[in-house]
Amino acid sequence: MKNILKWIGIVLGSMIGLVLVAGTVLYFMGNARLIKTYDFPPSNIVIPTDSASIEYGKHRAESLCEGCHSKDLSGINNWFSAGPLGMVDSANLTSGVGGVGQEFTSDEDYVRALRHGIDPEGKPLFMPAVVSTSQLSDQDLGSIIAYVKSVPPVNHKTNGQNFKPLAKILLAAGKLGKLPVESVSHKNQITAPERGVSAEYGAYLMNTNDCHVCHGPNLNGGPFPDPTRKKISPNITPGGELAFWTEEQFINAIRTGVTPSGHELDPSFMPWKDFRLFTEDELKAIWLDLQSLPKLNQYTE
Ligand code: HEC
Ligand code: HEC
Repeated sequence: MKNILKWIGIVLGSMIGLVLVAGTVLYFMGNARLIKTYDFPPSNIVIPTDSASIEYGKHRAESLCEGCHSKDLSGINNWFSAGPLGMVDSANLTSGVGGVGQEFTSDEDYVRALRHGIDPEGKPLFMPAVVSTSQLSDQDLGSIIAYVKSVPPVNHKTNGQNFKPLAKILLAAGKLGKLPVESVSHKNQITAPERGVSAEYGAYLMNTNDCHVCHGPNLNGGPFPDPTRKKISPNITPGGELAFWTEEQFINAIRTGVTPSGHELDPSFMPWKDFRLFTEDELKAIWLDLQSLPKLNQYTE
């Protein structure tokens, strides 16, 4: 009996030892990815100064940035907060105390964040939206940066990312997906289709507004990107409920958050309050593109 207990003790002990070693190795692997520095050739994007461009930048920022950086762009503390994983503040984008407007030394710093997902030192940012912002055309990205630089300063300190060891372990184990800098194309000199009511422009709007981040690469649904919230986003190809909607009903659903069947879209999952700011033409373009997609079945896990 004594011998068996001893053996069980040795086996358990070595198992715990192995787990600790594996955890430590993963911790360092995850940490290495978070502190790695990257460098990309400069974009040479010219930041426009005319009021029409700044106005367009404002329009895009309202639906694309305010949801995470707050209405006055002063950032949100604990934007992502998951106890044992740690937390991330979204940055203060203004030129007030604590804002990137004071910390950034050149316009390229904005491009590095939005097109490549890195901070001015070249370290990875935990900003999932880079999957979308990295696809913005030079002109549109320039307009957004011009607008961001023009907003009134707000003093507000934000602290960026503060990941706990568990998050680093899960990152290395592949449970937190890829960091934006590891997954985007890093292409420079991006052009957009001409603005207007076309499926091409609609596709561009969807690519640059996070629709794929939640509804999946093929838009037939996918897991909600925040790993702490279990939810599968619905299929928005003609293989799903949208097959039975009209253009008017689609526009109405995005504007009011209520679908034709009377279902109320939860704004904490589907940011329709941001997307209702799209113009009529932009929503029509998105609808055209949605209609042109192949019919796919709902994504399931
Ligand atoms: C899905 C949420 C989300 C969206 C959408 C989003 N951001 Fe961010 N952003 C964040 C978070 C979180 C951080 C902090 C990341 C970190 O510190 O790792 C951040 C950081 C930044 C930074 C700071 C980079 C640095 O070096 O400190 C800039 C600049 C920025 N965002 C600009 C924008 C702009 C402009 C938009 C709209 C085009 C936008 N963001 C949209 C969440 C978001
Ligand atoms: C942050 C994640 C997220 C983003 C970004 C997002 N969606 Fe959604 N969307 C959802 C979720 C989750 C639902 C289901 C919400 C519910 O049932 O309360 C939904 C619902 C919808 C619906 C209703 C579908 C149905 O069958 O009822 C449409 C249409 C839709 N989204 C279109 C879009 C478009 C177009 C975009 C980009 C402009 C977009 N969504 C961006 C998560 C998202």
